[in-house]
Amino acid sequence: MAEFGNPDVIEEEVDILLIGGGMACCGTAYEIGPWLEAAKKEGVDISVKLVDKAALDRSGAVAQGLSAINTYIGPEQDPADYARMVSNDLMGITRDDLAYDLGRHVDESVHLFEEWGLPIWKTDENGERYDGSKGMASLKDGGKPVRSGKWQIMINGESYKWIVAEAAKKALGMDNIQERVFIVKLVNDKNDPNRIAGAVGFSVREHKLYVYKAKAILLAAGGCVNLFRPRSVGEGQGRAWYPVWNAGSTYTMAAEAGAELTLMENRFVPTRFKDGYGPVGAWFLLFKSQATNAFGETYMTRNKDMLDDYPPYGQAAVPASCLRNHLMLKEMREGRGPIWMDTVTALANLRETLSPREVKHLEAEAWEDFLDMCVGQCGIWAGENIEPEKKNSELMPTEPYLLGSHSGCCGIWVSGPEDVGAPTDESADGVPEHLPKGWHWGYRGMTTVAGLFTAGDGVGASGHKFSSGSHAEGRMCAKSMIKYVMDNKDRAPELDTSVDELIEEIYRPVRTFLEHKDYTTAIDVNPHYITPRMLQFRLQKAMDEYVAGIATYYTTNEHMLAVAEQKLQDLKEDALKMRAKDLHELLRAWENYHRILTAEAHMKHIQFREESRYPGFYYRADKNFVDEENWKCFVNSIYDKETKTFKCFKRAHVDLVDKSKLFK
Ligand code: FAD
Ligand code: ADX
Repeated sequence: MAEFGNPDVIEEEVDILLIGGGMACCGTAYEIGPWLEAAKKEGVDISVKLVDKAALDRSGAVAQGLSAINTYIGPEQDPADYARMVSNDLMGITRDDLAYDLGRHVDESVHLFEEWGLPIWKTDENGERYDGSKGMASLKDGGKPVRSGKWQIMINGESYKWIVAEAAKKALGMDNIQERVFIVKLVNDKNDPNRIAGAVGFSVREHKLYVYKAKAILLAAGGCVNLFRPRSVGEGQGRAWYPVWNAGSTYTMAAEAGAELTLMENRFVPTRFKDGYGPVGAWFLLFKSQATNAFGETYMTRNKDMLDDYPPYGQAAVPASCLRNHLMLKEMREGRGPIWMDTVTALANLRETLSPREVKHLEAEAWEDFLDMCVGQCGIWAGENIEPEKKNSELMPTEPYLLGSHSGCCGIWVSGPEDVGAPTDESADGVPEHLPKGWHWGYRGMTTVAGLFTAGDGVGASGHKFSSGSHAEGRMCAKSMIKYVMDNKDRAPELDTSVDELIEEIYRPVRTFLEHKDYTTAIDVNPHYITPRMLQFRLQKAMDEYVAGIATYYTTNEHMLAVAEQKLQDLKEDALKMRAKDLHELLRAWENYHRILTAEAHMKHIQFREESRYPGFYYRADKNFVDEENWKCFVNSIYDKETKTFKCFKRAHVDLVDKSKLFK
């Protein structure tokens, strides 16, 4: 009988394993059906399994729902415009091939969402706005969405994830979906260290450990949250902007398997409604609200000249997200805070131009925007007696988050599409090569480890994919993984580590606890172990104080980074002493481990990039400038499992899309 410390071990072999059940994996699960059928017609039966640490209906970043789809290209723009916007917002260093490719596929995901029942706001022929319940023509049939911004469309999205998950479940079948299994590590192939062969994890509900063998794996377990000390403390602790359950699993497991990471120095510091982390996009874009300092001055106007210092696109019509923060932080640093979202003026202005029905609709939306995706902010408004038409709300830049699908671009280096960029020559196997070299090696979305794919927050150097783009990227991986499996159908994966060794490693925190728990009478105080909660505090404090967290207004330098490097090294050693007194703590222990390695990658990349490429997200006080000559390049890294160190290096950046249109 399985019991704590002595789990049942379940070994399974599948052709394709999907790790994660968020937007990306749901996209793959939906899309893969027809490709499986096509393979069957050629006599190849391909099995697929999806494993999520949570339950698909409410897992991942879309768990609470959303009120906008932030990437919808529509007929009036094209994928090149999209690639330009992504590059602009991420300070000029993104992969145009990935962004362009996403731009030409993303709308199809949005059309599918609408077909599955997601209500999308529409405008009628007179330009009047209605929410999705009105039942107007679908986007596919020419219906006009309500654009909050150039790229964003409004939805009634509280049940967004349910809808997307339902389609994924129906397509893949619940027999092929395993919920509540946390994947701890990937396993390479015994006969080829640069090939993936499997993954191992444990149930967070039962005493079961799972060992999967697979030819191809999609690793799409989201970004990384809670690696920095959060602003929310005391009764607010646990609240964060990005979902707390995305703990860097994607980056750490990929790095340990040998995959090349890219732009891990990049982070996202969202400006949010203070204390509740409520989104600002709808306020800035749909309600046309302004943010001001304490004296009512609009910092984007007051500090406009500061943008001149920041090539390549400081002077672009829309300043990058980090630069908007940069201009706001000046006000805070120089004592002109707090920063206010002027909701009162915004709503008053709307009353002058819109019909009473539309005004009522928008006033309801002011609340619904939060109710859809960040219900805690409504609690703050109610608790602080805020009616947005009468009282302004405070804004605050949050602690940093690492992600590749929202307004950040850290992640894994992947193979791009074949047909974007001018083909130069033919490689030995006849595949047309891209400009520049090293951006394409056969299978779209595959990392530098054979058979290991990623999507959504996992894909680095692109960004601004959001929910729809992550889904589309997952769909693209469905096709390329089938191709990979077909090309490797005779290759049987063999794990390079024995199952016994894997069990011992994963259950180490449990063994540590069981061995030492009786040494003291207070269960949390013990010289032989540290609780995952305490270890997490140590990680967050070190990152906050030395790697440009909120404590230093996002500022660091080479000396502070050197201290951080030592502290993280010590922490990695101490992580081996984490205890797990139950399955919940085992989950917390491994999440922490994933966070630590992700944090180390972040720190090493910031150390390597000798400039401040993302002012407003972080500053290196000793290199406080953007250096286009030496650093207009990708910083990539590879983790060496033996020496347990990251090695950073440069990769050339090339623009495939003309960026001159970014300027007015
Ligand atoms: P996710 O959807 O986060 O999925 C990650 C999955 O991995 C989850 O199922 C998780 O349970 C699983 N997982 C994690 N670790 C493991 C592990 N070790 N083992 C097994 N499973 C694991 N987009 C928009 O279009 N519009 C918006 O308005 C918008 N607003 C947002 C607001 C907030 C507060 C947040 C957090 C995100 C918002 N986004 C928005 C962005 C969007 O949600 C993400 O871009 C998208 O969800 C990323 O997809 P993903 O599949 O990469 O990750
Ligand atoms: S959300 O994911 O929680 O909705 P957020 O509110 O920051 O994120 O932004 C939603 C969308 O609006 C994103 O596409 C973001 O880039 C964009 N956005 C937010 N604020 C601004 C702004 N001031 N100017 C231009 N675009 C903005």
